[in-house]
Amino acid sequence: MNEAIVHPSQSPAQVEIDRAECIRQRSVAAKFHYETDRQAALWLKLHERYASKGELIQPYAEAAKALASSWPYSDGSLIALGCGGGEKDIAILKPLPKGTRFVPTDVSKPLVLKAAQIAGEFDPGAAANPLVFDLATADDLLEFIDQHAGLNRIYTFFGIIPNFPPRVILPRLRMLLRSEDRLLLSANLAPNGMEPILPQYDNDETRGWLAEFPKTHGAGKGEVKITVETDGHLQFIAAHFHFQEPCVMKANGKHFEFFSGDSLQLFMSYRYTVESLADTLEPYGIAIEETFLTTNGEEGVFICGLQ
Ligand SMILES: C[S@@+](CC[C@H](N)C(=O)[O-])C[C@H]1O[C@@H](n2cnc3c(N)ncnc32)[C@H](O)[C@@H]1O
Repeated sequence: MNEAIVHPSQSPAQVEIDRAECIRQRSVAAKFHYETDRQAALWLKLHERYASKGELIQPYAEAAKALASSWPYSDGSLIALGCGGGEKDIAILKPLPKGTRFVPTDVSKPLVLKAAQIAGEFDPGAAANPLVFDLATADDLLEFIDQHAGLNRIYTFFGIIPNFPPRVILPRLRMLLRSEDRLLLSANLAPNGMEPILPQYDNDETRGWLAEFPKTHGAGKGEVKITVETDGHLQFIAAHFHFQEPCVMKANGKHFEFFSGDSLQLFMSYRYTVESLADTLEPYGIAIEETFLTTNGEEGVFICGLQ
């Protein structure tokens, strides 16, 4: 199998610097919730419990078909950003022309290798080197991708847009896109407001998954609280760890003191409507061309391009 190529943004030393910086700033980056086997297992369990499978696959299958029917290149590349296990990205790959190269990317090396292996079983010719980088911080990212992937690109970006403020992640996505490229992204939607979706986050499984980070970095007694917060015209679900006793958290050889009553932001999940997503993408020059929704309207897959 092709080897994974690791960008300096995910070198072990840089990851330790990032970890300490998250604790110092009291805001944990999404990438630190998928690091250990236990975190991955807790997340998968949660995902299975709160995501009804059949419902979720349908918009990805429809988007795959629509994209394949209009994609003109026989030698393009599918670059799967934050691919996780890669299942959704591979569903997009399957109906594309046989010569399309599959480039799985994530912060996690085991996950990109797994995605590459599954894609290779489907089409050995599709396999390219998997790439490991931090999408949110890697500078020279387009240059790095250019060194390892061909042109005429489809970028998939599934399950990640909710975990970043749009002003952080959208300029980075925009910077990757050329006029001939397509971007497929998925977003969590709140067609009827935040109340009906709150139980998907405000539950013991989610709290247990998110508490792993503080627990494994030295936090003592505390509680994970889930709230709804506002960012301009958008709302997001937030999770904070509230310290109930003094403790010292440790990372990268540094010590960080916390006291009872302090809090640490663990997670955010932005929720959109189809309209608010279009309005949010627009200032970054990204336009939605086609929309595919689950029947309950709580998840959407969007084929996008440059305006
Ligand atoms: C919610 S999972 C989604 C996985 C998959 N795309 C899906 O839809 O099932 C988020 C994925 O993004 C990755 N991730 C988190 N932060 C990242 C970052 N800054 N850069 C690249 N990948 C990141 C995680 O490792 C994880 O695999």
